[in-house]
Amino acid sequence: MDEREILADVLRDLGQTLRHHRDLGVPEISLGRPAFPDPAEALAAQETALQGCTRCKLSRSRSTIVFGSGNPRARLLVVGEGPGEEEDRQGKPFVGRAGQLLTRMLESVGFDRERDCYIANVVKCRPERNRNPEPDEVAACNPFLTAQADTIQPAVILALGNFATQTLLGTKDGITRLRGRSYEFRSSVLVPTFHPAFLLRNPGQEFKRMAWDDLKLARREWERLTG
Ligand code: URA
Repeated sequence: MDEREILADVLRDLGQTLRHHRDLGVPEISLGRPAFPDPAEALAAQETALQGCTRCKLSRSRSTIVFGSGNPRARLLVVGEGPGEEEDRQGKPFVGRAGQLLTRMLESVGFDRERDCYIANVVKCRPERNRNPEPDEVAACNPFLTAQADTIQPAVILALGNFATQTLLGTKDGITRLRGRSYEFRSSVLVPTFHPAFLLRNPGQEFKRMAWDDLKLARREWERLTG
């Protein structure tokens, strides 16, 4: 490759990066200082950029875009699948029955949901009848979850259930196989566990005990990395 071709490549990549930032709501790139020193501001800009989103077909049936909620400076990022009926109505993640269980699960290992966590989903709009999000929907929404994670830079990511874990880790293995250990994930450690909706549907002690082990592991990793 000669120098002109290399320069053309670099300029094309730069153009792509700038268009991606513009789509995520970054209004300007300031040289020397980060565009958004404050994660709350960065998340607010990303949420604004999502308003009225029609990037995928979930936009046709949703009532509200559920961007995410919690502490923008949290060191724990909790990732679910997608909004359910109640979340679609209220515009906040995990506010239904599964959300109440999630709050108790987090509290059982000493995490306060509002103070210690930021909670987001793989897709920000409700799939009708709570079906799994489809690959084109995940692909359309993925830059927003990535931007949230890059902004928050959590020490630990708690991935809830098959869908979030498989999407983040890029695997087809099931949660029963994946849970019980932690994974290096970008600059964080990812701990998979059962989705609280699954635990509500399967109230046996066995799943509860495994989820409890995972939560304790997430807490240990959090203490190791933030301590
Ligand atoms: N289930 C999810 O995966 N996310 C929510 O926000 C609510 C229920």
